[in-house]
Amino acid sequence: MIEALRKYWFRCIDCGARYDGDEKIYFCKKCGGLLDVEYEDSELALIPWSKSFQERPLGVWRYRELLPVRDDSKIVTMNEGGTRLIRCRNLEKALGVKEIYVKNEGGNPTGSFKDRGMTVGVTKALEVGARTTICASTGNTSSSLAAYSAKAGLECVVLVPAGKIALGKLSQAIIHGAKVLAVRGGFDDCLRLVKELSRDKRFYLLNSINSFRLEGQKTAAFEIYEQLGREVPDKLFIPIGNAGNIVAYWKGFRELKSLGLIDKLPSFMGVQAIGASPIYKAFIQGSDTITPMENVETIATAIRIGRPVNWKRALKAVRETNGLVGAVTDEEILNAQRILASKEGIFAEPAGASPIAFLIKAVKEGLIEKDSRVVCIVTGHGLKDPDVVLKQVGKLTEVEADIDSVLKALRAASAKAI
Ligand SMILES: Cc1ncc(COP(=O)(O)O)c(C=O)c1O
Ligand SMILES: [Zn+2]
Repeated sequence: MIEALRKYWFRCIDCGARYDGDEKIYFCKKCGGLLDVEYEDSELALIPWSKSFQERPLGVWRYRELLPVRDDSKIVTMNEGGTRLIRCRNLEKALGVKEIYVKNEGGNPTGSFKDRGMTVGVTKALEVGARTTICASTGNTSSSLAAYSAKAGLECVVLVPAGKIALGKLSQAIIHGAKVLAVRGGFDDCLRLVKELSRDKRFYLLNSINSFRLEGQKTAAFEIYEQLGREVPDKLFIPIGNAGNIVAYWKGFRELKSLGLIDKLPSFMGVQAIGASPIYKAFIQGSDTITPMENVETIATAIRIGRPVNWKRALKAVRETNGLVGAVTDEEILNAQRILASKEGIFAEPAGASPIAFLIKAVKEGLIEKDSRVVCIVTGHGLKDPDVVLKQVGKLTEVEADIDSVLKALRAASAKAI
């Protein structure tokens, strides 16, 4: 282990104030800004890329020296990360784009990218001596936090918007033993409430306000770099909800650059659902600030957020990499979900399919070059939200248990398909 790399601290993203990395804080005490984790600069940081990293399996903890954890014995892990980067040749053909890959984050232990953040975040909860973890969630954060808290022996409290959370996600949070409260309001109300609760020292807040989570999530950028043979894609298509994940990828790629491993970052192509798109609106208006949206609505419940906490750095990530923010309709999301499943065999939940929807749109509108190398981040597994699919098909065809009935029904089905 390389001791020097473990030195880290918090830096306010607004006023630059610096705080000890062991302090239990989420915001700057001077100006209320969000905090970034910064590490001591050291040429030692380069050593693990050629040595230790290669000896460990692909995954979050392969990059242990680049993560802000003090005590290896406390690490709470289910071998998260190491997800597949899948070449999508059928999509390439259909869209006429040279290289398209899906980074399938649905392959994580609880079925979404959140596990990358929670393995670090819940480990930090143990390090600071917390008893209870809390979060507001559109679903996946609660599934993941509940599972990791269970493994760590911590109590877990989650607040979700009543009636607006996918069944799979809710059942995960419940079976892992979290106290789940359904709040009569949206995600933004839930977040306001857990922020208030987190002033109580017993609670440890694990929304993406917590910068340790983003440290775990940044490892997906390292993996993509390695999976592409130590290169970066031209374009990275990624959904934006609370905007933590896009910021985490941006940090990951910037760290690769500051280590001298790459010389340019991919262009960040962030996507929101049109019914919950404050960052998209700010982007197209060329504005430096967002106007929060009330009464947001989209079938992609995971990104049904009107006041994204990490909007400032998300806009920066897109602008500084010459990227774009797009917005897609529910119909475009469902269409992309179907295409990805039927052409590539990958089942994404609606939010996870939104990057494909934006890619299809970007190709149609000539927003990307056809010889691009594209990576789409599929953030969550389709089994999280099976209702979305079943609602579209109506009643299944029932047949008698004899071969003639089966053949007759198949003939009718193929005639219908034609
Ligand atoms: C499947 C899925 N995709 C995308 C997002 C958005 O991530 P972020 O809130 O970090 O922007 C979420 C967040 O809950 C999610 O669950
Ligand atoms: Zn500050």
